Amino acid sequence: MSSVYYITLLLPTLIWNLHLCTAVDKTPLRYRPFRCRNGWSVSQTVRCDGFRNCVDGSDEENCTLPMWLEQPSPNVTVAVGALMNLTCIAGGSPPPIIEWKMNDKQPEANCDWTTEEGVGLLSCRIRLIDSGNYSCVARQPKASLESTVVTHVTVTGNVCKDGFFNEADKRKACIKCFCSGVSSLCHASELYRWNYTMAMNDWRMKYATLQNSGQFNQELGMKVYDKFTDVPRNTTPYYRLPFKFIEYQVDSYGGLLRYEVQIDSTSYQREDPDVILKGYNTTLLFKYKPQLLTGQLNKIAVLLHEANFRRLDGKKTSRDDLMTVLSYIDTFLIRMYPLGGVYSPASTPLVMDASTKLAYHGLGKMSRVEECRCPHGYRGTSCERCDFGYNRASRYLRSGICMPWEWHRAEYLKVSSSTTMRNYHYV
Ligand SMILES: *[C@@H]1O[C@H](CO)[C@@H](O)[C@H](O)[C@H]1NC(C)=O
Ligand SMILES: *[C@@H]1O[C@H](CO)[C@@H](O)[C@H](O)[C@H]1NC(C)=O
Ligand SMILES: *[C@@H]1O[C@H](CO)[C@@H](O)[C@H](O)[C@H]1NC(C)=O
Ligand SMILES: *[C@@H]1O[C@H](CO)[C@@H](O)[C@H](O)[C@H]1NC(C)=O
Ligand SMILES: *[C@@H]1O[C@H](CO)[C@@H](O)[C@H](O)[C@H]1NC(C)=O
Ligand SMILES: *[C@@H]1O[C@H](CO)[C@@H](O)[C@H](O)[C@H]1NC(C)=O
Repeated sequence: MSSVYYITLLLPTLIWNLHLCTAVDKTPLRYRPFRCRNGWSVSQTVRCDGFRNCVDGSDEENCTLPMWLEQPSPNVTVAVGALMNLTCIAGGSPPPIIEWKMNDKQPEANCDWTTEEGVGLLSCRIRLIDSGNYSCVARQPKASLESTVVTHVTVTGNVCKDGFFNEADKRKACIKCFCSGVSSLCHASELYRWNYTMAMNDWRMKYATLQNSGQFNQELGMKVYDKFTDVPRNTTPYYRLPFKFIEYQVDSYGGLLRYEVQIDSTSYQREDPDVILKGYNTTLLFKYKPQLLTGQLNKIAVLLHEANFRRLDGKKTSRDDLMTVLSYIDTFLIRMYPLGGVYSPASTPLVMDASTKLAYHGLGKMSRVEECRCPHGYRGTSCERCDFGYNRASRYLRSGICMPWEWHRAEYLKVSSSTTMRNYHYV
């Protein structure tokens, strides 16, 4: 039942996200006729497109290339929350359509634009992450012209210093932008708290044991079992959470992981961590400090914050460490406790906080989740994913960098003596 629940919630999220990421062309839709010399009319949109749409070909006459008549100033300073209007005007026949670019991409959903008779207006409700380079393009069917001026927009009004963002609804709290190390421009995302849940004994749950129980200082030696009945008796078993609790989890930062533990004896291996997260070769451990009570359900809530975790090497966890792991969790383990001397998967629920743009569930905001301005090749609130046409190359940064497929292809050809082209962009 729970699987159906989150799958049906996931689909609209995807569709909604696509919808939100697009700026809106607010130009009124109306048919603009061009009168041919013989008196007939064709659409203005076919003027000078290289085809004779009028019988006499007059729609291909007197074409002039676009040229700039007005461009915005090169420096614009705007306060957060204000409207920023930019104007580009181009002459030419037919009058060109004006398109806008922000850091060479289409502007995002906080912007609208109109283009009529060569006059292009861009209007954006400015957020912190909207500083950057704005430019316009004048487009005719067979020609386009980039603006010669690039407008550098500076956004003022960050209550934190550069590279930090203000935790939502907390004036004094500033958090460093993580942005996967590829950007330092971020703000608090507009995301609402929600959660997904699963029973601890769900059929998708797997199990694991640790090879170096009690002493953790190097690699995490782990053995995974598909069925609980395969787990050897004399070890401390862990739940190994399935898909949906692993992979991309940056939007759970600052949220809670909740589950319940029942024990009937206080004799258990104390040193073993309760929660283990691993991603990008970084392992973080959480230890539940209070004494577990016997004869009742112990409700365990793990705040996903660096202060609660310890690294495998014993050092303190930084926000970058935790965000790196949350960017791509490949291992998520929760410790089991024995009941009546034996271990068995519990039927109690596991609840993980996450965020959604979709709707308010009455659970408040995810105030510590960042949203970054990502460079080319990256997407995700923290630029934690590679964009379409890009794949991860494991160099420079802990989590690697996103490089276009052509780059991967070239790398593959460098090391490959054969000319067969198999999976070259996964090297
Ligand atoms: C092109 O320009 C000439 C000279 O200005 C004018 O006579 C002619 O009508 C124009 N043709 C069209 C299709 O506008
Ligand atoms: C725009 O700002 C840059 C530095 O921020 C400065 O060097 C440049 O002169 C400014 N240009 C104009 C036209 O104000
Ligand atoms: C920007 O344009 C909008 C309409 O598109 C207008 O209401 C607003 O007053 C303009 N703001 C400024 C600062 O020019
Ligand atoms: C904006 O343009 C300037 C040069 O004009 C460049 O140095 C800077 O990196 C650009 N910023 C972005 C975010 O692309
Ligand atoms: C999980 O979210 C639902 C609403 O989506 C809410 O009713 C429920 O209380 C939440 N559970 C927890 C433990 O926060
Ligand atoms: C993972 O990290 C450990 C310790 O920091 C290091 O020795 C090992 O080489 C790393 N492995 C990879 C694949 O990066």
